[in-house]
Amino acid sequence: MASTRFFALLWLLFASALLSLVNAGGKTHHHDFVIQATPVKRLCKTHNSITVNGQFPGPTLEVNNGDTLVIKITNKARYNVTIHWHGIRQLRSGWADGPEFVTQCPIRPGGSYTYRFTIEGQEGTLWWHAHSSWLRATVYGALIIRPREGESYPFQKPKRETPILLGEWWDANPIDVVRQATRTGAAPNNSNAFTINGQPGDLYNCSSKDTVVVPIEVGETNLLRVINAALNQPLFFKIANHKLTVVSADASYTKPFTTDVLMLGPGQTTDVLITGDQPPARFYIAARAYQSASASFDNTTTTAILQYKSAPCSSTNCAATKPVMPQLPAFNDTATVTAFSRSFRSPRPVEVPTDIDENLFFTIGLGLNRCPTKFNSRRCQGPNGTRFASSMNNVSFVLPSTISILQAFQQRIPGVFTADFPANPPVKFDYTGNVSRSLWQPVPGTKGYRLKYGSRVQIVLQDTNIVTPENHPIHLHGYDFYIVAEGFGNFNPKTDTKKFNLVDPPLRNTVAVPANGWAVIRFVADNPGAWLMHCHLDVHITWGLAMVFLVDNGVGELQTMQPPPEDLPLC
Ligand code: C2O
Repeated sequence: MASTRFFALLWLLFASALLSLVNAGGKTHHHDFVIQATPVKRLCKTHNSITVNGQFPGPTLEVNNGDTLVIKITNKARYNVTIHWHGIRQLRSGWADGPEFVTQCPIRPGGSYTYRFTIEGQEGTLWWHAHSSWLRATVYGALIIRPREGESYPFQKPKRETPILLGEWWDANPIDVVRQATRTGAAPNNSNAFTINGQPGDLYNCSSKDTVVVPIEVGETNLLRVINAALNQPLFFKIANHKLTVVSADASYTKPFTTDVLMLGPGQTTDVLITGDQPPARFYIAARAYQSASASFDNTTTTAILQYKSAPCSSTNCAATKPVMPQLPAFNDTATVTAFSRSFRSPRPVEVPTDIDENLFFTIGLGLNRCPTKFNSRRCQGPNGTRFASSMNNVSFVLPSTISILQAFQQRIPGVFTADFPANPPVKFDYTGNVSRSLWQPVPGTKGYRLKYGSRVQIVLQDTNIVTPENHPIHLHGYDFYIVAEGFGNFNPKTDTKKFNLVDPPLRNTVAVPANGWAVIRFVADNPGAWLMHCHLDVHITWGLAMVFLVDNGVGELQTMQPPPEDLPLC
């Protein structure tokens, strides 16, 4: 009798242990990232680039939904660094999000910090990058999340999967480029090349022999995971003679649609299926600028080669035959961008938040700071002796320097930020018309907007015509949001609200807000912490196009932030 009870107890213990294993679900992946200067040769010249483990681009992380990542960063470079896991929800684990002075102080040269987080309910392609100054020019890599073990993609199983990281290369030290811009107030120098998986490709000097080759075979269907990791440039992406079927973006599945061209703002990812349905040969994969602003830009084209394994040229004589080149859209082809972005839908009807608690309207755009007349003119080399600026609702965001916003929020430390970010622009004006010069100068500030746990938020993101209109890729940390509508001109609540897609809008972490237009996003504030929202053009973050949401804890442990890790860097 006693022994039956004993075995029953043993069984119960065993079963509950098993259950907790199943609940925890995934595996834990440990990685070491050493941030270090590494000689990298591109465009005929070698630079001492900051890399992870000497690799450029950095290592690809491959995990399954439900897995935990433990990544130790050791900083052996001469710059402060942090790493951001772009698009990871970081539920309750905001300490691992990464933007410097927002969720942590930077990891100093010689220091280290271990990021720990679990992937909960996300599948598809994300990426990681440095979130400190312009280090992400060379410090970035892919983060691939496959379905849970035993589960499959909601589309045809691809034969091969290839990450395609689009990057931007300066024939200079990117940190010097941004420092010079900050000093002078002028726009930073344009890049000298775009890259595919770190290589500029055939059309640049000294680059042909390293051009990336992407294999395909007749009849097979492959998955390309395209990531725009460029610093400052939205990019068109096209492959000669092949159609692309979009199946996912920003690690959320989409209703599949077919297109011959993609546009990705920096920060965005797009997964596409491609079928080997052409006579075996070599085809260029190409990317170049979508430029919506009136400003100078890098107008070069990066290429890789889609090569059929049975192509008549063997690896020895392929160099003699030129691959087929796709015709890319014109640099300013906004119509193509609009048609593309309006094709996105969620795969099935979704629960879009309604009964909105927080109805917010944020202007986004550039500005110019006037200089005092006797001001050092070397510091005022922007248009007409000004300094470039940018803002949301006329607040030009300034990072703190003594402690992170998240620490100050959690520990109620005053004097670091104020929670008075305006819900609406301080003045209403014709945002996309001819804006009076008196409205061109933003006000600097470290302002957050407080959200109650669980509040349902709508934000109208309205581009302005100040200095220049521009397509801004707006990225929100810690959340995915539904893009319920986009349009041109000034958002009109009376007429535009009727056009909202509240049935199957796409879920993303970065929205490309149309130039001289607007986009409306919705999300539920169910993740406590301090979450940066910013333009993913790094030059615009440098100028202040950012703000922070401060989301309160809810009720109980599952709605409360985890305590800060012991090794959280100090300022
Ligand atoms: Cu991909 Cu705040 O960044």
